[in-house]
Amino acid sequence: MTGSDSPAPKDGDGARPRARGVARPGRQDWSAWPEYDAATAGFRGYWYPVTWSSHVTGTPLAVTVCGEKIALIRDGGRAYALHDRCPHRGVPLSLGDQQFPGTLSCPYHGWTYRLGDGQLCAVITDGPESRICGKVTVRTYPVEERLGMVWVYVPLANEEPHPIDSQLPEEMVENPFVMGGRIQPRTGNWRFAAENGFDEGHAKYLHRTSLWRLFKPMPTWNITKIVPGGRWIYRVQQEVHWDAIFPGVGRWSNTRWWKFQPPKETFNIGNTGKPKKLDPVIEKCDFPGFASLSMPGVLRIVYPNFIHYEFYVPVDADNHRYVGVMINFTEGWKVAGFYLKYLGAIRWLFHGQFTGQDAWMVDVTDAPPEKLYRPDVSLTAWRGLAQEEFAKKKAAAGAQ
Ligand code: FES
Ligand SMILES: [Fe+2]
Repeated sequence: MTGSDSPAPKDGDGARPRARGVARPGRQDWSAWPEYDAATAGFRGYWYPVTWSSHVTGTPLAVTVCGEKIALIRDGGRAYALHDRCPHRGVPLSLGDQQFPGTLSCPYHGWTYRLGDGQLCAVITDGPESRICGKVTVRTYPVEERLGMVWVYVPLANEEPHPIDSQLPEEMVENPFVMGGRIQPRTGNWRFAAENGFDEGHAKYLHRTSLWRLFKPMPTWNITKIVPGGRWIYRVQQEVHWDAIFPGVGRWSNTRWWKFQPPKETFNIGNTGKPKKLDPVIEKCDFPGFASLSMPGVLRIVYPNFIHYEFYVPVDADNHRYVGVMINFTEGWKVAGFYLKYLGAIRWLFHGQFTGQDAWMVDVTDAPPEKLYRPDVSLTAWRGLAQEEFAKKKAAAGAQ
């Protein structure tokens, strides 16, 4: 469906009805959102999940986030992050190892840095009286551990980080839950990944062939509006159409004889029909729509009994890290049931093949220029949110 074929929007979702068949050049750049446009390697000033906690050990591990090379190491149970570059001759510290507790030594000449503050505290090849000790520092980064992962704060200036919990989805902080997840390095810019996650039009078409949706039809098209709520934006479905006749072309539907019957009513939790029963925590959250997005690229997809999150972690201009997490607000013996479901099906079907279709598209997307259509209000609303939030953050950091 192209812009000129789509019906006029039914409410104030930002688009205006346009005459049919009038060619327009489309959007040539992202200058309408200068901060977003500049965030090729990600937005600094946020916490990012970089790897599983269990992968950070006494042997240093190299990661890249927001274009920044970082060496992670665990000492005394705590994870530390240092700039992965020895100031002496620029060798990666992640190639070194620990010669003394609480430190990391560069592999080349044994310059040794304190993990807590990055200070050069010994130079093995210059003797105990080395005059350069205390005069050189490598940058350290704030580190936290949440959801079984190590999170690193990438500062904007020299500001203190905000508490990590203020950046996590609220329901994750306030309720006990059980989770399963995947962290995958993926090609493509992180913004294409974030845009794909919240993209209104794609799931019902791109994912129609996924095994995850083998028995559940998805709509053909929707009328959706984007609603802000706190630091999130939500996609709210106003009309859901399961079938359509496209003039001069024919009928198109995702329904099949072997799939469940589509529901009659419009729904806003899950994307395949109105749920019979909602998890009590999810019900209490009262989400206006099943898909929501917040800075710095956190997607939340709410199903009747679990929530799926995607964290799009910028690596550099052409790579990101996909962190997919599925949680269930359950405790006790039901935890075993969740793991069974997650490891037996969700991990392969949803966090594997289904999101693999997204990875494919993110890898091949090439924009701007672009010619947006009605459902892309989801994209422009996200860019607007990112632009506004980051401009505020930058102003606050500058004021400090
Ligand atoms: S380069 Fe690191 S000690 Fe020389
Ligand atoms: Fe998708």
